[in-house]
Amino acid sequence: MLGLLGEQGSEFAYKVDFANDVVTIISVICTVAIVGTMLYFAVIYRQRDGKDHETPMIEGNNTLEVIWTVFPTLVCIWVAWLGFDAFVDLRSPPADAMEINVTGRKWAWDFQYKNGKKTTGELVVPVDRPVKLIMTSVPADTGVLHSFFVPVMRTKADVIPGRYTYEWFKPIKTGDFQVFCTEYCGTEHSKMLARLKVLPQGEFERWLADDSEERKLAGLKPADLGKELYAGKQCISCHSLDGSARVGPTWLKAFGKEGELADGSKYKMDENYIRESILYPMKKTVKGYPAAGMPSYQGQLSDDEVTAIIEFIKTVDGSKPIDIAPAVAPKKSGAAAGATPVERGKAIVHDTGNLCITCHSLDGSQMVGPSFKGLWGRKEKLSDGSEVVVDAAYIKESIWKPAAKIVQGYGPVMPAMYEGKLTDENLNDVIEYLKTLQ
Ligand code: CUA
Repeated sequence: MLGLLGEQGSEFAYKVDFANDVVTIISVICTVAIVGTMLYFAVIYRQRDGKDHETPMIEGNNTLEVIWTVFPTLVCIWVAWLGFDAFVDLRSPPADAMEINVTGRKWAWDFQYKNGKKTTGELVVPVDRPVKLIMTSVPADTGVLHSFFVPVMRTKADVIPGRYTYEWFKPIKTGDFQVFCTEYCGTEHSKMLARLKVLPQGEFERWLADDSEERKLAGLKPADLGKELYAGKQCISCHSLDGSARVGPTWLKAFGKEGELADGSKYKMDENYIRESILYPMKKTVKGYPAAGMPSYQGQLSDDEVTAIIEFIKTVDGSKPIDIAPAVAPKKSGAAAGATPVERGKAIVHDTGNLCITCHSLDGSQMVGPSFKGLWGRKEKLSDGSEVVVDAAYIKESIWKPAAKIVQGYGPVMPAMYEGKLTDENLNDVIEYLKTLQ
């Protein structure tokens, strides 16, 4: 009726909305009636001419008392029934519901289907078929509470380490919808989002059966698989293969290397050190690199995949150039879509191949590089003590020659990979987009 909760995507959404509407309407009526009467009496019985009013003595009125006892009781029972009825629906998945396993980890959602297909951050389901989500948080011993909330489906449940919880829904329309984590679970809680994609039946079956990606990876030698993962899992954003500085240490001749950690102790980059760094990156930080700069890959990589990455790192010994192109090299942004410069610039900045938003936030929060919010026209203090005002020339220089000027407090970690990749025209579009982020 009121549409307060937004679009309805599941069969039971109308029940939840109806209960919510009834409670809202009753609350508004009662508030207006009670506060209105109160104000009205306060005005007409206010003290006048310095005299107090005498209150008449009123004996009980049985008819009135029966009405104001019985009527609200019936309303309360009705409201309780509405809630109970919807709750029973929400907690009773049909026996033929399609089961999908959901894993919450710090800070992403993984999904796995009965046929083994896995996705991260994207839950794909068919329309008009009940879906039951069987959910847990990993790792079982040290994981944290999350909560899987699909507003459009009107369903939400806690996701708990070492235990399975469930929720279900039957989508009634196709489309893309937002999923939230609604249990505060740490620093990246607000980014723990997922997409719910409801597809027509046939399209879903095709999507589910498509295992071309997995088969391609399964047939690879460990080192080659590691190479695919290096690009596919975004290791490439922070670790170079040619010795150049990025957010994290380069992988060139990294295997077997010894060095010093931030706390002064020594480390040797062997298999166990790499494995620990991938799964528990917070434990040890190499001196000179940002602490907490790397997300945990726990639950994102299988044991075989961790081994594959170790094998790949061993091959990065400088004996031969490693060709990441063309399959996984960052895409050319020349084809950035959009009618206006701002739209094209936005597409370039948000293109995952360009890695901009890997290190620069859009909301003012501090990441590896300065935030894009309010960047245009800002005065930045550079590491050599001088000051610059961020204008077009400065932005272009920073993108093409990132080492030329470093903002104070940040490391020289931006990859020099944009010259030749982004044209002058591209950068003008990017600048137009940055100007909108005030
Ligand atoms: Cu997971 Cu908040």
